[in-house]
Amino acid sequence: MLNPNSRVLLLLFISSIFFACFPGLTSCAVVSLKSIEVFKTHEWLKVTTTVYFLCKGENKTVLPDVKKSNALYAFNGEESWQPLSNFSSKKCKRCGFYEEDSITSDDVFDEWEFCPSDFTAPNGEYIRFKEKEFNATFLCSECLSLASVDEHDDGKGMHIAVVVLLSALVSIILSLGVVGAYKFWQKKIREQDQARLLKLFEDDDDIGDELGLGTVI
Ligand SMILES: *[C@@H]1O[C@H](CO)[C@@H](O)[C@H](O)[C@H]1NC(C)=O
Ligand SMILES: *[C@@H]1O[C@H](CO)[C@@H](O)[C@H](O)[C@H]1NC(C)=O
Ligand SMILES: *[C@@H]1O[C@H](CO)[C@@H](O)[C@H](O)[C@H]1NC(C)=O
Repeated sequence: MLNPNSRVLLLLFISSIFFACFPGLTSCAVVSLKSIEVFKTHEWLKVTTTVYFLCKGENKTVLPDVKKSNALYAFNGEESWQPLSNFSSKKCKRCGFYEEDSITSDDVFDEWEFCPSDFTAPNGEYIRFKEKEFNATFLCSECLSLASVDEHDDGKGMHIAVVVLLSALVSIILSLGVVGAYKFWQKKIREQDQARLLKLFEDDDDIGDELGLGTVI
């Protein structure tokens, strides 16, 4: 059938599918930006500003529409630059809003620990507000299930898996034992029957007693 190499490849392929980030799967929660309003810009020389969102270790997401301060920008989540980011566990990320600066290093609106647990029911909304800087609303409905799913996984899940495995093993061994005992018992009965039959043919005198004719008549 398959040689060992292609089997390893198949296994890698399956596990990569399993661990890849699919929207809709609870193992990956997609975060989008619902609305943002910046209250001031840090660039004095330029008329427009370039605001971007960045999580440590990821690529920056420029918000192409956000050009002016004190204007509310609303998004439906399907914009070309969405989603902003995603979570694959309930672990937080270090993220922030920044403004590109043409002269010095980029200005920071805010940088904070962005956590799946920040998103609140019923819709999975999270409002991040920093006075005089910005007010942003994030949306991540999958974060709600992610936070609760992971809580059970933290060791309880492992524990349950071990218990299930052990009880499965015990019941397999038990049923094997029962089947074995039943087979053994059947064999014993058959041997006894054969022995009795042989005895019947050998000993004609006992026929009446053996068949219990005395009680029938
Ligand atoms: C960032 O973007 C570049 C170019 O699009 C891509 O090659 C790289 O893999 C991205 N890095 C991450 C961490 O997504
Ligand atoms: C999740 O984030 C990673 C890294 O930023 C990215 O490569 C991947 O495409 C994202 N997945 C989705 C479904 O957005
Ligand atoms: C921030 O924006 C949201 C959505 O637009 C709004 O409901 C909320 O009242 C705003 N908060 C502040 C402090 O401006």
